[in-house]
Amino acid sequence: MEDDFGKALRQTAELMDRELREFLPDNNGLEKQLYNAMRYSVLSGGKRLRAFLVIQAADLFGVPRLHSTRVASALEIIHSYSLIHDDLPCMDDDDLRRGIPTVHKEFDEATAVLAGDALQSLAFEIIGDAKTHSSAEVRVQLVSKLAYAIGVRGMVGGQTMDIYAEGDDIDIVTITRLQQLKTGALITFACEAGAILGHASPPQQQALKAYAHDLGLAFQIADDILDTEGSAEELGKATGKDDAAGKATFVSLMGLDEAKIHARMLVDQAIEHLEPFGPKADLLRHAARFAIERRN
Ligand code: IPE
Ligand code: IPE
Ligand code: MG
Ligand code: MG
Ligand code: MG
Repeated sequence: MEDDFGKALRQTAELMDRELREFLPDNNGLEKQLYNAMRYSVLSGGKRLRAFLVIQAADLFGVPRLHSTRVASALEIIHSYSLIHDDLPCMDDDDLRRGIPTVHKEFDEATAVLAGDALQSLAFEIIGDAKTHSSAEVRVQLVSKLAYAIGVRGMVGGQTMDIYAEGDDIDIVTITRLQQLKTGALITFACEAGAILGHASPPQQQALKAYAHDLGLAFQIADDILDTEGSAEELGKATGKDDAAGKATFVSLMGLDEAKIHARMLVDQAIEHLEPFGPKADLLRHAARFAIERRN
């Protein structure tokens, strides 16, 4: 039976599908192919966990859903862009994503690169719009935090490390940093955005950031574990790729059992950081457990 968390996550996914459709209208011009590829990727499902985190973090401070939903949409759009580029032949070279062909397979490589680029711009367009928040200061804060999270000191920096890191010369400190950047940065932004929208106090911001930090890392460790022992049917993407590519992951470094223990420890730690918010943060607590218990 569906529990409160399952229901809330499903509702977020349904909300995202409706909202994201609005940002990606049909187009019949010469750029039609680009629009189609953007929609194909963004509307192909996904757990919508990042959107969920934005909305739940913002809910802690009573932020109107109108605002948090727009930031959540922008973040899912950024996430889609990162997946399109991650799957390219020059990166992970994957053919399947969310159970359907990757964008460069369904369309072509040029379209995949351009769709990623255009999605990145679209996300900033959405956040910068006055509809996201009436305060220009809040919007600027969101824009600069997001820019930081996805740039050289965030997601793209982590993706670079991921590509050039060789299994042999990587240690626990480096792999932690790599994963924190490539995946943790977006998850941290999700929680930070909720705090910014809600004018959270510095200790509240700190608590949410610490939660996101541990959760983001645990989430990527779980992804690496699923790559080893999950099924392509459930995951909607190929498995065994990290090992085949000689990728440095927590699993390659410490083995499956230790990686699971480490992820579990991070989730417990993430949950402890939510103490100051009391029962209001129960869905976020559940989200942390979900990060490592999920099957896809
Ligand atoms: C996949 O993210 C990429 C990683 C950072 C591990 P998700 O597992 O959140 O992908 P979707 O959005 O649910 O498809
Ligand atoms: C992807 O990590 C991280 C980003 C897209 C930034 P992975 O390469 O492990 O993600 P999957 O396994 O392809 O979803
Ligand atoms: Mg990758
Ligand atoms: Mg990949
Ligand atoms: Mg992976």
